[in-house]
Amino acid sequence: MSKHWSYKLDDNGIGWLHFDHLDSSNNVFSNEALDELAAEISEIDKAAPRGLIFISDKKAGFIAGADVKGFVGRSDVDETEQFIKGVHSLFQRIEDLPFPTLALIHGHCLGGGLELALACRYRVARDDEGTRLSFPEVRLGIFPGFGGSVRSIELLGPLVAMQNMLNSRALTGRAAKKIGLVDQIAPERHLKQAAIDLITRQPPPHQPSFSQRLLNNNPLRSMLARYMEKETAKRVNREHYPAPFKLLDHWKLHGGSKAALYKSEARGVAELLTSSTAQNLIRVFFLQERMKSLGKGSDFKPHHVHVIGGGVMGGDIAAWCALRGMRVTLQDREAQYLSKAMQRAHALFRKKLKRTPLIQAAGDRLIPDHKGDGIEKADIIIEAIFESVEAKQVLFKEIEARAKPDAVLASNTSSIPLEQIATILKKPERLVGIHFFNPVAKMQLIEIVSSKQTSPDETHRAAAFALAINRLPLPVTSSPGFLVNRILMPYLLEAVALLEEGVPAPAIDRAALRFGMPMGPIALADSVGIDICLSVAQKLSETMDVTVPAILQKKVDDNNLGIKSGWGFYRYQKGKAVKTPIPSDYKAPEDLTNRMIFRLLNEAVACLREGVVEDADLLDAGVIFGTGFAPFRGGPMQYIRDSGVNQMRQRLEALNSAHGARFKADPGWSDLE
Ligand code: NAI
Repeated sequence: MSKHWSYKLDDNGIGWLHFDHLDSSNNVFSNEALDELAAEISEIDKAAPRGLIFISDKKAGFIAGADVKGFVGRSDVDETEQFIKGVHSLFQRIEDLPFPTLALIHGHCLGGGLELALACRYRVARDDEGTRLSFPEVRLGIFPGFGGSVRSIELLGPLVAMQNMLNSRALTGRAAKKIGLVDQIAPERHLKQAAIDLITRQPPPHQPSFSQRLLNNNPLRSMLARYMEKETAKRVNREHYPAPFKLLDHWKLHGGSKAALYKSEARGVAELLTSSTAQNLIRVFFLQERMKSLGKGSDFKPHHVHVIGGGVMGGDIAAWCALRGMRVTLQDREAQYLSKAMQRAHALFRKKLKRTPLIQAAGDRLIPDHKGDGIEKADIIIEAIFESVEAKQVLFKEIEARAKPDAVLASNTSSIPLEQIATILKKPERLVGIHFFNPVAKMQLIEIVSSKQTSPDETHRAAAFALAINRLPLPVTSSPGFLVNRILMPYLLEAVALLEEGVPAPAIDRAALRFGMPMGPIALADSVGIDICLSVAQKLSETMDVTVPAILQKKVDDNNLGIKSGWGFYRYQKGKAVKTPIPSDYKAPEDLTNRMIFRLLNEAVACLREGVVEDADLLDAGVIFGTGFAPFRGGPMQYIRDSGVNQMRQRLEALNSAHGARFKADPGWSDLE
């Protein structure tokens, strides 16, 4: 008797194998589920039904993939290779069954789940927005290892298969049908019948076109692989993220023989999975899950959001909430800001939703509200007016008087301690910070800020709201800069100091990219806006030991604000930086990267000591999702641990001797040993 699978034979003589993983909201291939599947397949093989349909009983989807928990801490390549080979032989048995097999897909069908579907003769997917098929493996630092790299090439042809594995693109049923990944799509009510029809009719399985198949033969295969390698290298650094390159090599060298491909898949994925990159990326995956869990378990179900202040942030916050299905009222004292915000919102809806009825529905959910009538009705009110304590106090006094007694009252302030705003509230425990990052539609992280007065229930409700709009909540205390800006600022200021010392901006940015940052600090300052950087730096300099470089003020005085004004540290043409090439004989200071990174690390240690976040894991999560800090390094604290606390401290002390007290080790370093 299986715990996770159940088998039923229908009146047509077709077998239905239901997957419903016990104690989990998603179906995953835990070791136990795989063992049980093997036993079920042996029985079904003997019973010889007319056909076999794999179906999930989970509402959310078909199968979410391998159980990533089983990947944590894997360090033995041979053992991992044996595990993968075991799954290969199970999936091969499914492929070899003497009757037709079919995967009936709804919701998510990811990684190992898609690989099981590929081992079936047919695939039918539900035709709706919620159905998504994808290979997310490269994001975890591996590539499909349950036969997926072999079967996808066979089914789709190498070009389409490689593109999907390299890009982890999530396809709707419709998009999957277009490329031949599924044989048929059907709306929910016809889904089962469509599956029965396919099993009964038994049409020949899908095959890629002749020209697609040709690409698998040399010399075309080698040429295409080299081309894709070049394209991938434009986006991804091979040293930091080897998986996509290893996938391409695997196909280039072994694509001519299925047996060789299976072998190389098992070895290649085992090598990747046991590497520090994959282990850190898996860690990041769990950090993300942990942040999501912080928003769970609350009975707060926000339907109506009221946003006050329709500027850069408020306008975009309102648009994002409407995009995510909420009813939103947007208030601003000036009509011109509301109309600009509505225009930006519609551009976002068009970009993200594509289909006219969906765009219109999102537009209908976003209501300009000059007078603020939404205050009385909203479940959550987010203030995003300009950064002034007095103005925010006046506003919150009014909000508290008018809002529903159980509405969440939130401020998007980036630098004002909540305690100061809350002094005018009758119930200061109601005020919570919901600190979005700019640009709202891109940045996944939201800092959920609590003062000493904020009630834990409000913090939880704010986190539930973040999750409801598909964002990652990070609880932080209401100390200056919270977590992300505080950690980022010393790093940015060091980069500007280097610039003032005469290091060319492209050399500074290049060093940060080589470390694994998604963007160089100089380019980042230009894109955030030098005026914003200056104001955050000035604010932080009131409480932190940071010196604001004079060049920032000068740039602002000259209106060289960055991308938005066409000139900042770089000059911009059509939004692109025009960079003066670094002279070939230029020699950057040896400690260039360390100077920037160690200031960031030292600040991270200080934040941890002060308890700005609860623990080192959440700190890493915040810095990765809030700043893009090299995910393959697993976050600043993980990077310190991986490199050795003592060695890292010594490097910091060397910088202190060479460049002064801003590199003085925070007392928190002693707690790490
Ligand atoms: P902004 O200046 O672009 O927008 C402020 C808007 O509020 C303006 O449209 C203004 O007309 C409106 N407003 C001012 N007083 C009002 C009132 N009493 N009632 C209704 N509307 C009023 O400012 P931005 O950049 O959007 O910042 C807003 C808040 O978000 C600030 O607290 C800022 O610290 C915070 N923040 C800003 C970030 C950024 O990158 N700009 C990032 C994260 C937070």
